Amino acid sequence: MQLTIYATLCAIFATAAVAQDFSGSGQIFVINSTDFSTATPDLSIGCLDARGSFSESNCATFTKLGAYPNTLSTSVGNCSFTDSTQPANTDNPYGSHSYAYHCRPSFAATVTDSFYTIKGLKYPFLCHGDINCFYDIKNVPTSNVTMPAWEYLWGSQQTSIPAGHTQVMFYWQKTA
Ligand SMILES: *[C@@H]1O[C@H](CO)[C@@H](O)[C@H](O)[C@H]1NC(C)=O
Ligand SMILES: *[C@@H]1O[C@H](CO)[C@@H](O)[C@H](O)[C@H]1NC(C)=O
Ligand SMILES: *[C@@H]1O[C@H](CO)[C@@H](O)[C@H](O)[C@H]1NC(C)=O
Repeated sequence: MQLTIYATLCAIFATAAVAQDFSGSGQIFVINSTDFSTATPDLSIGCLDARGSFSESNCATFTKLGAYPNTLSTSVGNCSFTDSTQPANTDNPYGSHSYAYHCRPSFAATVTDSFYTIKGLKYPFLCHGDINCFYDIKNVPTSNVTMPAWEYLWGSQQTSIPAGHTQVMFYWQKTA
């Protein structure tokens, strides 16, 4: 799977070369796509709110730290996938310690919380860890209720997104 993604990315490097700017402040949109070559901002199904939860339209401003570890924060605090107070992705055999993205006060982010973009893609899609550019959602938020967004995890026991979940991408729309 990792190799497949890498091969796909390499194929895209050859065809696209649009500047990306993942810096300053921006909003993070959740894009319903598994394909970098066809994903566009129009495929947005929501965005992340100030707590880092998947929201229908309550899109927060995220600010990227200009220095190491270059992590993201909102008005609530630093954001991370490591907060064990958040729901774990228990539908995935690898997900018992994979927690919903969450921004919280008094939390010092580390480099494992940082995102990066991949040069050559058409849009600034946020990747993290070891070339992991996908995320996992189970339910779509309504106007009143937010939903968790997890990292996308796979391996021999779970070779694609868990049944009933949707594989998505995070798109950075720079605002400042
Ligand atoms: C995502 O897009 C697929 C079609 O590509 C559609 O079948 C599915 O319902 C969409 N899921 C969500 C959560 O919008
Ligand atoms: C957020 O994380 C950064 C990087 O570790 C740290 O410098 C900053 O103090 C943290 N902010 C809070 C409120 O903990
Ligand atoms: C959502 O919130 C609005 C106003 O805050 C309220 O009128 C409506 O009943 C709520 N809907 C649900 C499903 O809770």
